[in-house]
Amino acid sequence: MAQETIILTGDRPTGPLHLGHYVGSLLNRVQHQADTAQYIMIADMQAMTDNFDNPQKVRDNVTEVTLDYLAVGIDPNKSTIFIQSMIPQIAELTIFYLNLVTISRLKRNPTVKTEIKQKGYGEDLPAGFLMYPVHQAADITVVRANLVPVGEDQLPMLEQTNEIVRSFNRIYKTDILREVTWSKSVTPRLPGTDGKAKMGKSLGNAIFLSDPADVVAKKVMSMYTDPDHVRVEDPGKIEGNTVFTYLDIFAPDKQAVEEMKAHYQRGGLGDVKVKKYLIEVLNTLLEPMRVRRAEFAKDKSYINAVLKEGTEKTLAVAQQTMTMVKKATSLNYW
Ligand code: TRP
Repeated sequence: MAQETIILTGDRPTGPLHLGHYVGSLLNRVQHQADTAQYIMIADMQAMTDNFDNPQKVRDNVTEVTLDYLAVGIDPNKSTIFIQSMIPQIAELTIFYLNLVTISRLKRNPTVKTEIKQKGYGEDLPAGFLMYPVHQAADITVVRANLVPVGEDQLPMLEQTNEIVRSFNRIYKTDILREVTWSKSVTPRLPGTDGKAKMGKSLGNAIFLSDPADVVAKKVMSMYTDPDHVRVEDPGKIEGNTVFTYLDIFAPDKQAVEEMKAHYQRGGLGDVKVKKYLIEVLNTLLEPMRVRRAEFAKDKSYINAVLKEGTEKTLAVAQQTMTMVKKATSLNYW
């Protein structure tokens, strides 16, 4: 019998979500929830691995991220939203899995490797940070997910998850854990407003879904374009011009964008005009989200109920998984 497809995705609650999240994953999730069982995890414990000295920031952003989910149209009746730290089986599974992974393998994980360098940990690398890919394998397997739609930077996590799944099933002669696949998001990675490869909250180049209209305008006005396009009448370059990259992704009127590109390349079209158009496009997209977000933000008890219900549903599944794991490892005492 073919097994049901189960999706697990998630975000670290370290700040509000931005347009990069929107094109990279949120849109996908809104589409997937129509026909697939989907868990969306707020990874507060993973956020703690590099914010353990600032738990209040993590706590506050659990609410912000939930508001962003509801604002973009994630429907708690279709998707199960839950809080990682409220599922103790994730921590329990992590301990089982840590026996199946070596330190050197963790240090070779490309994403972790890059982060260790960026954060400058050197010899003082926190063990909790190094092992977060194992923790992530527990997130995924605790609900027995087999589909994890994530961006490219997360693929090393999924490869490690599958290694753990295969080791576990082989060593304990079972098939209870499922390997995962991923569908790469069809949209290209969104560059930051500064033209750098990636939009990120810590990079200071993000447009947040919750930014007010005037903030969006200000950020777009400061965006990276063609540095050689000095006078309006000069021909301008489209390649690497972030304003056009955004228009390609977000403007519904593709023909208008093509005409603007041609005009810009010929010369005679100023950056300010193109940026004004982008501001209009982005604010048209974001305005309904702002309205919904403001509505939901008024009702804290609703947000709590959404998280509590999703977490309780997940807990029931996690308990089943743990029972299976205890049985497979023969550590089921009574
Ligand atoms: N590592 C992901 C990020 O930094 C968040 C995350 C935690 C996640 N657990 C997950 C994503 C499980 C997908 C599946 O964005």
